[in-house]
Amino acid sequence: ELGPYPHFMAKEIFEQPQAVRQALAGRVEPGSGRVDLGETGLDPATLRSFQRYAIVACGTAWHAGLVGRHLLQRATGRPVSVEVASEFRYGDPMVDAGTLTVAISQSGETADTLAAVREARRRGSPVLAIVNVEGSSLSREADWVLYTRAGPEVAVASTKAYLTQVVALHLLAAWAAPTGAEATGLQLLQLPSRLEATLGLDPAVQELARELAGSEHLFYVGRGLDYAVALEAALKIKEISYVHAEAYAAGELKHGTLALIEPGRWVVALATQRALLAKTAGNVAEVRARGAQVVVVGPGASPGRAELEPMADRYLPLPEAPEPLLPVLAVVPMQLLAYHAARARGCDVDRPRNLAKSVTVE
Ligand code: F6R
Repeated sequence: ELGPYPHFMAKEIFEQPQAVRQALAGRVEPGSGRVDLGETGLDPATLRSFQRYAIVACGTAWHAGLVGRHLLQRATGRPVSVEVASEFRYGDPMVDAGTLTVAISQSGETADTLAAVREARRRGSPVLAIVNVEGSSLSREADWVLYTRAGPEVAVASTKAYLTQVVALHLLAAWAAPTGAEATGLQLLQLPSRLEATLGLDPAVQELARELAGSEHLFYVGRGLDYAVALEAALKIKEISYVHAEAYAAGELKHGTLALIEPGRWVVALATQRALLAKTAGNVAEVRARGAQVVVVGPGASPGRAELEPMADRYLPLPEAPEPLLPVLAVVPMQLLAYHAARARGCDVDRPRNLAKSVTVE
């Protein structure tokens, strides 16, 4: 089953272009870019009729939800909340019949996510599940299901499931948008080949992982969509390499965390969004002034690269792609960094200590 790969995690990272192809198949018309998720049983008018959207999920799926919030809010112009399922269920959630609850889960068996869904339904909110495993409890309990079609994910650390969740959310947002879905659809069709190009960063990331693997503390920073990616990047390296990593909204650094920056500390900055470039560049300068070494993950072309690369100790250039896809691509070198750091530290990559693939207890 592993083929040429030493671990399932590597296999699943390298399978991502194919997983995304499957996730797009039959949902985006190749010529026109027309998006159609009619298979869910929903329709765009119903999807747009909700006053609010409430995303619930755990762990990596919650990080996909953070990306989804940006996309859905932009597409619908309606408020979108995103909450960790275990907080949602006990937090007296403000959902009702006018709210669409969107539950995201790879396994469809996560106890907290299922409990959140039951609570939402008790309050009259219908549920759309974005789920990978067909026939799972979540898929059975939801009103509508959008399958991520990532295929079986064996490694405990989620990679291709996360990526296809993000793709599903891009599709959902495009379908919900009154206009512009075709343009998004056409961009998404480029994603598999752009992911293949991104995987070409592997040797550079492996080299970087050797440098970083000795650190006991790492910081990841980003703004907007890149902050969501930073959270996912930090979780990935924590869970499989046991390095303490934290993610911050880049603008929050000066509100406390900057105190932890000292000479030799590594900071990974995600900077894919051109509108936020100057601001993130400012944060990179702040941490470098305190002696940190900075890895920047940014655009492969300018504007972007010309400004960021000279400020970085290491620069990971993403392949050229439409800007909305760059945060999707940026997660790939972060998965690879976690993978190679874990290997360099002698960790059990596919079966990290204390963790289970599916968390069926609260
Ligand atoms: C991290 C990871 C976990 C899961 C979380 C939710 O790599 O795998 O954080 O994402 O336990 O699991 P699902 O998606 O099955 O609900």
